[in-house]
Amino acid sequence: MSESKSTNITWHAGQVSRQDREKLLGQRGCTLWLTGLSGSGKSTIAVAAEKALAKKGRLTYILDGDNIRHGLNANLGFSPADRTENIRRIGEVSKLFTDAGIIVFTSFISPYRADRDAVRKIMGEGDFIEAWVQASVDTCESRDVKGLYKKARAGEIKDFTGISAPYEEPLKAEVILDTNGQTVDQSVEKLIAFLQKNGYLG
Ligand code: ADX
Repeated sequence: MSESKSTNITWHAGQVSRQDREKLLGQRGCTLWLTGLSGSGKSTIAVAAEKALAKKGRLTYILDGDNIRHGLNANLGFSPADRTENIRRIGEVSKLFTDAGIIVFTSFISPYRADRDAVRKIMGEGDFIEAWVQASVDTCESRDVKGLYKKARAGEIKDFTGISAPYEEPLKAEVILDTNGQTVDQSVEKLIAFLQKNGYLG
């Protein structure tokens, strides 16, 4: 967690509470934190789940690694320190969206357990749902949708997760989506069933 440089600042509360917003929306805000290797299916699952929830009248928002790195986190690379800062900022953004009452999908490799646990810690109990999008390096490499594994093997990309940088598997994921063996629809059904069972959809 980065040290605060701001001094003389005061928290200013609003007059509409999170509960008020959630009542308006008829749902409970939360963050479905999708973690897994590049090419494991995180973004695909987030997009499909968002579509399915929109059909059910639910308000969602996707924070996607590649997209966020075009803007908010454009100044970060893939060193361990930059990845940690990437996840810290996204954790804070997810916390804000969750407080807005929105169902958030984050789609970041987030390879370090300590970084994911730090986000879990800053969010309230039940607000952070770790969803491990599980696919082996072999599976992701055989898909190689963006051609990045090929480049990483050729040494053209350094610190590439799964090849030349680590991925620390989750130890306490609330949901595991095995995309080696299950379809996108099956993963989406599993996520939505989790939300329904745990009262997020009202
Ligand atoms: S994270 O490790 O900091 O969580 P993030 O999810 O934001 O990563 O970005 C990963 C995406 O960046 C990958 O899907 C891939 O398209 C691209 N990428 C570029 N270089 C790398 C790299 N060295 N390791 C992993 N992904 C990379």
